Amino acid sequence: MTNEDWPAYYAVTVDRPAWWTTLAAADLFAAEDGPDVPPRLAVDLGCGAGRDSRALLRRGWRVIAVDREPAAIEALVAATRKRDRARLDARVADLATFTVPPCDLVVANVSLQFLPAARFARAWRSMAAAVGSGGRIAAMVYGDRDESAGDPGVTCASPRSIRARLRGFDVERWVDREEDGHMALGDPHHIHLVELVARRRAPAPQRPGAGAPTPAPGRPAT
Ligand SMILES: C[S@@+](CC[C@H](N)C(=O)[O-])C[C@H]1O[C@@H](n2cnc3c(N)ncnc32)[C@H](O)[C@@H]1O
Repeated sequence: MTNEDWPAYYAVTVDRPAWWTTLAAADLFAAEDGPDVPPRLAVDLGCGAGRDSRALLRRGWRVIAVDREPAAIEALVAATRKRDRARLDARVADLATFTVPPCDLVVANVSLQFLPAARFARAWRSMAAAVGSGGRIAAMVYGDRDESAGDPGVTCASPRSIRARLRGFDVERWVDREEDGHMALGDPHHIHLVELVARRRAPAPQRPGAGAPTPAPGRPAT
């Protein structure tokens, strides 16, 4: 997809429902939260016209929505209900250098593939660092059998490598799917997507007295 296609993409997708990954993550939080929990914060990376951001706003979330294309941010803001706008912080920024702020939920649906490999890895580290224990990542990531694999500047990751990036998380939802389908603008495309929701584990409690290992008798400590 070229940059010139983005306004058409936003026009086609602005009224589409949120991706299931985002809704599943929001449902999981809702099942844990009591009635008096203050609005949670999500960061939507590569938000496009904001199908996910707006679904979260409608559920009372605060959202930081980020996209490199000003047209995306304009489409998102224009489509956001007035009553939700105070909880939306929409920013033009490049995910290649963006540091994800601390939040409850990071959403990254079909956006990270546009980062070259080193930036893709950096973005995952930033996403993982942004969520504390109990926080979640909801993502749809291009898999390595996608038709775009091998295109310059596009990163299609193997399901195994995506799992490896989720160290410290419990994977709550995981769909690895492949099909001959169509892109949003109608182009035929062999699609391979890994779709997931993962929750950051609480750190394991320290056992009393657990510290530096006791050196084996007769061997000097190193
Ligand atoms: C396929 S669209 C998906 C948009 C939205 N997540 C959705 O599912 O409707 C990918 C989005 O990522 C944005 N994007 C691509 N590369 C980016 C980058 N380096 N920094 C920020 N946004 C980027 C594009 O502008 C586009 O809006």
